[in-house]
Amino acid sequence: MIKVEDLHKSFDGVEVIKGINLSVDKGEIIALIGGSGHGKSVLLKQMAGLLKPDRGHILIDGLEIGRIKGRALSHLRSRMGFLFQGGALFDSMTVLDNVAFPLREKTRLKEAEIKEKVFHVLEMVGLSEAEGKFPSQLSGGMIKRAALARELVWNPEIMFFDEPTTGLDPIIGHSILKLIDNLHRTYGFTGIIVTHEIPRVFDIVDRVAMLYEGVILISGPPEEVRNSEDPIVRQFVRGETEGPVTYG
Ligand SMILES: Nc1ncnc2c1ncn2[C@@H]1O[C@H](COP(=O)(O)OP(=O)(O)O)[C@@H](O)[C@H]1O
Ligand SMILES: [Mg+2]
Repeated sequence: MIKVEDLHKSFDGVEVIKGINLSVDKGEIIALIGGSGHGKSVLLKQMAGLLKPDRGHILIDGLEIGRIKGRALSHLRSRMGFLFQGGALFDSMTVLDNVAFPLREKTRLKEAEIKEKVFHVLEMVGLSEAEGKFPSQLSGGMIKRAALARELVWNPEIMFFDEPTTGLDPIIGHSILKLIDNLHRTYGFTGIIVTHEIPRVFDIVDRVAMLYEGVILISGPPEEVRNSEDPIVRQFVRGETEGPVTYG
């Protein structure tokens, strides 16, 4: 479904992505882990076609996302959902209107059909009671749920999650991970989660890939990554301060 081949990206002469190869199968959900500033968000944005690679290829079902334009690109993008770190909602709109927004803007569905879809997805994310609330009346966890609902209302085939639990307390963060797990089982999308929720995320993904200084250091089933003998992987997965990597 997604194939990344020899990907490179520099900013102001500094190479951030240094030759990444990664494939994600249809319906698979993977965790992308790694230290801050190692290129996780840049990789995700390139996979979603929001940022152009300098070199290399990203193929989505055989279509090269950096090469296609216009309607073909819009169509491909419409098959994807992206939960950004901020999870921004429109402050002046209720939860219902926020989630309905993409459908009202981009489809010709009737209002009754839109409402039906919105209510269904709000129920899926546990926000049925909050449809009439404004973002300022919601907790951090509810805002994330609403932002998730707005992406899922399209029924995307691919979902990108960039640090979906950052800024939430551990219990709410855990509930968001569980929700992503449930939604993945229900909707069957292909998913990529960038997260620092180690080891929790290991329980909900098929595979873990670790990005280190712009390359994929390891990629494999959670157990394999957890038991890796590589000193850098070991140190990161266990969150130890002693080891080959120094954090200033
Ligand atoms: N649009 C940009 N312009 C310049 N530098 C960028 C841009 N986006 C990311 N970077 C740099 O690329 C590196 C990797 O960033 P990022 O992918 O956001 O890291 P993370 O793994 O924490 O998500 C960082 O050094 C960051 O400053
Ligand atoms: Mg990031």
